Amino acid sequence: MRILETVADYREWRKSLPANQTVGFVPTMGALHDGHASLLRASKKENAHTVLSIFVNPTQFNQKEDFDKYPKTWEQDLTIAKASGVDAIFSPKNPSELYPDDYKYKITEKEFSNELCGEFRPGHFDGVLSVVMKLFQIVKPTRAYFGEKDFQQLSLIRGMVDAYFLDLEVVPCPTVREPSGLAMSSRNLRLTPEEKELAPKLYQVMTSAESLDDAKSTLNKLGFEVEYLVDKKTPFGMRRFVAAWLGKVRLIDNVKL
Ligand code: PAJ
Repeated sequence: MRILETVADYREWRKSLPANQTVGFVPTMGALHDGHASLLRASKKENAHTVLSIFVNPTQFNQKEDFDKYPKTWEQDLTIAKASGVDAIFSPKNPSELYPDDYKYKITEKEFSNELCGEFRPGHFDGVLSVVMKLFQIVKPTRAYFGEKDFQQLSLIRGMVDAYFLDLEVVPCPTVREPSGLAMSSRNLRLTPEEKELAPKLYQVMTSAESLDDAKSTLNKLGFEVEYLVDKKTPFGMRRFVAAWLGKVRLIDNVKL
C-alpha cells in the first residue's frame, strides 16, 4: 500500500498504472469506521485499483473548534485501509498542498447548497465541492464512492459532476448503522458515554414519530437541540433529513420515505 503526501508523488504513481485499468476513489477526512470501509469494499469489488484520500479539509468547517477537534486516528486508519485492500492513500499533510492559491478559486452551487446543512453552515458546501473537484483532478478516478449518510453532499457532488462534464461515475453507497440504528460517523468519537447512549434515539425517533412536530419535541425533550427535521423531495425521491446537536457534537441523518 503506497502512502503519497504530495500531488507530484501521487501523479507519478497514477501515471505508472496502465491507462486501461479502472481506479475507484473514496475521499474521506480519516477517523475511519465501517461506513468508510463499506465504500472501500464497493470500490475494491468494481475496480482494478482503489485509492483512499485522507484530508481534513479546512475550507468546509465553519467552526474553528470543530476543525481543531476533528478526530485523528492515523494508525487505525492504516489498519482499516490495509484490511480493505487499498492500493494507495493520498494524504496531503499541509492544506497548502491542495490550496496553493489560498482558496481564491472555489466551486459554488447556488440553490440546494443553501438549504438544510447549508443554511446552518454557510460556505460548507463550497468547501466540500471545491476540495472534491481538486481531488478528482488529482486522483483521476473512473468511479468515486460517496455515502448516503451525507445525502445532500452526495447529490451536490452528482450535480457538479454533471455541470462540469467530469468523466467519472459517482457511486452512492447505503448508510452503515450501529445495531442501535445510530448512523456511523467520525464525530461519534467525540460523544461522551452518556451522549453515546442517547444518540441512537435520533434515528429511532425520526423513523417512528407520528409527525415531524412530535419528533422534534420528543428529541428536544430528550436533550437534543434540533436544527432541522424536514421531509424533502430530492431528484432521488422523498427523504427525511435531520440535524441535531448533542452537547458539542452535531449529528446528521436521513432516510428514504
Ligand atoms: P467523511 O465524513 O470522512 O466521509 C467520507 C465518506 O464516507 C463520505 O462519502 C460519507 O458520506 C461516507 N460515510 C460516512 N459515514 C458513513 C456511514 N455511516 N455509512 C456510509 N457512508 C458513510 O464526507 C466527507 O468526509 C468530506 O466532506 C469529503 C467528501 C471527504 C470532502 O472533504
